[in-house]
Amino acid sequence: MTAHTTPSGRPLPANPPEIDYVRRWAEIVERRRVQMDAAYAEAGIEHVDYWGRRAVAFRNATHARTEEDPFLVRVREAVTPASTLLDVGAGTGRHTLALAQHVAQITAVDPSAAMLGLLREDLAARTIENVATVQAEWMSAEVEPADYVICSHVLYPIADVVPFVRKLESSAIERVFIYLRADPLATDFGLWSAFHGVPLQPQPAHVDLFNVLAQIGIFADVEIVSMPLTWTFETREEAVQQVANSLCLRDDDHDARTKLAALLDQRMVPLPNGRLGSTAAATRSAIFSWRPR
Ligand SMILES: C[S@@+](CC[C@H](N)C(=O)[O-])C[C@H]1O[C@@H](n2cnc3c(N)ncnc32)[C@H](O)[C@@H]1O
Repeated sequence: MTAHTTPSGRPLPANPPEIDYVRRWAEIVERRRVQMDAAYAEAGIEHVDYWGRRAVAFRNATHARTEEDPFLVRVREAVTPASTLLDVGAGTGRHTLALAQHVAQITAVDPSAAMLGLLREDLAARTIENVATVQAEWMSAEVEPADYVICSHVLYPIADVVPFVRKLESSAIERVFIYLRADPLATDFGLWSAFHGVPLQPQPAHVDLFNVLAQIGIFADVEIVSMPLTWTFETREEAVQQVANSLCLRDDDHDARTKLAALLDQRMVPLPNGRLGSTAAATRSAIFSWRPR
């Protein structure tokens, strides 16, 4: 046992308590989940198809800006025309679509029929033939390992993050890339308390993942990048609909929607690309990447 004193006998400050970052991650996810579930239950909204209500708006908001996305740039620099790639939580496939011509084969995995449906439409429209889609949650997906595994903005609701990350790692031959926000995305435009009385609880962010990875012995390369906010809208009506979804408001709650429209008018501005969005110019995200053991 080492003495808890300096050489001159002065007592050292108490040891800081150890933090179990894996548990902390699960608690952050759980706190947010309970809050959202309670809000849905209070509004009488059942069978929430979270991504089903967002898929089209998500595709319209994100795809046009994929070429400026530093995550895409980093992955594209890493792959070769002979590479295989797994896109886990591919969503509407902005990265898959942009990478397909740079690699030999991509498997895009996502549990959402709505998100994957839009990706399949785009693959067919562009006659892209080297992409396979698998509709499944990652933990139950049966897919072959690939040279590169990418996972962009997926981990926020995953409570049991370690097996998820371990499966990403064991499915990668060359490198794993994970993208996660450093600045939390205010999906509620900061308006949760105006409707529910308390602030919306945050989702896990890059520092939480950094600590989780370190705790399980993964010392990833981490790059902080900035990207114009893509949580933008075609019209005022679309903004109200999408933020109402995030606020768990009922479609027939006209009073709440009128209040929301007025609040959004104070918070949204026309953007240079003609869309409507928040005054926050950019958000930072982290690109984690490492070579599997
Ligand atoms: C914010 S979107 C990101 C989509 C895409 N990776 C991108 O960056 O544009 C999150 C996606 O993760 C998917 N997802 C959620 N839980 C998942 C799970 N357990 N396994 C795989 N994907 C999941 C959702 O269906 C959704 O399409």
